[in-house]
Amino acid sequence: MRLDKFVLRSTALTKAQVITAIEAGQVCVNHGVIKDVKHQVHENNLIQLNHQTLTPRPFRYLLLHKSADKICSNVDGHYPSLFNDIDIDNKDELHIVGRLDADTTGLVLITDDGRWSFNITRPEMSCAKLYRVSLAKPLSTQAIKQLEQGILLDGETKPTLPAKITTVNERQVLLSITEGRYHQVKRMFFAVGNKVTQLHREQIGEIKLNTASDQWRYLTEAEVNSFNS
Ligand code: URA
Repeated sequence: MRLDKFVLRSTALTKAQVITAIEAGQVCVNHGVIKDVKHQVHENNLIQLNHQTLTPRPFRYLLLHKSADKICSNVDGHYPSLFNDIDIDNKDELHIVGRLDADTTGLVLITDDGRWSFNITRPEMSCAKLYRVSLAKPLSTQAIKQLEQGILLDGETKPTLPAKITTVNERQVLLSITEGRYHQVKRMFFAVGNKVTQLHREQIGEIKLNTASDQWRYLTEAEVNSFNS
């Protein structure tokens, strides 16, 4: 982890104050002054600020039920950030694991543990994401076959990995995919001549959405560990 991140996670200082303290020579790693904010440190290094030993706060893992017209960003933009719905300290240390579009609803994972989120997002993990997809038109058997086999999206050279589709009714399906390409679900259905009218994420890996809209909770230990393989 970078030295500035470590100090940020161990104190009540702001990012700017952390940088100032490191550059002023107030931070020691294993008794040597380090002024490089990017210096890599390990949790078992001795890290001190003004001779006080620092201990980082434990990582945090949250699940939020995102509503429409909220954005997956740490700051407000065209719509408010979903972080407005989370009332905890040091929110700027958290990041979103796998963003949803502003009009997409459902399960969002949030953490300050970069290694954990990398485990979820890297393609080799084949972590399944389950979406409930509402469509403008009935989906043909041929289109289901194409999506299940993998389809070439506009502007790309590699087809999508095989998807699993369960039909709910004529215009609604459950779609399970293991990738997270840009606007992937909407582009997949566009590629077979349809249009997504509503998109809702219900599950990531073993973790199922079970809070009301705009509500959040901490993950259980078992849920956190389900991605630590
Ligand atoms: N695919 C999309 O097209 N949008 C999302 O928000 C998530 C997956």
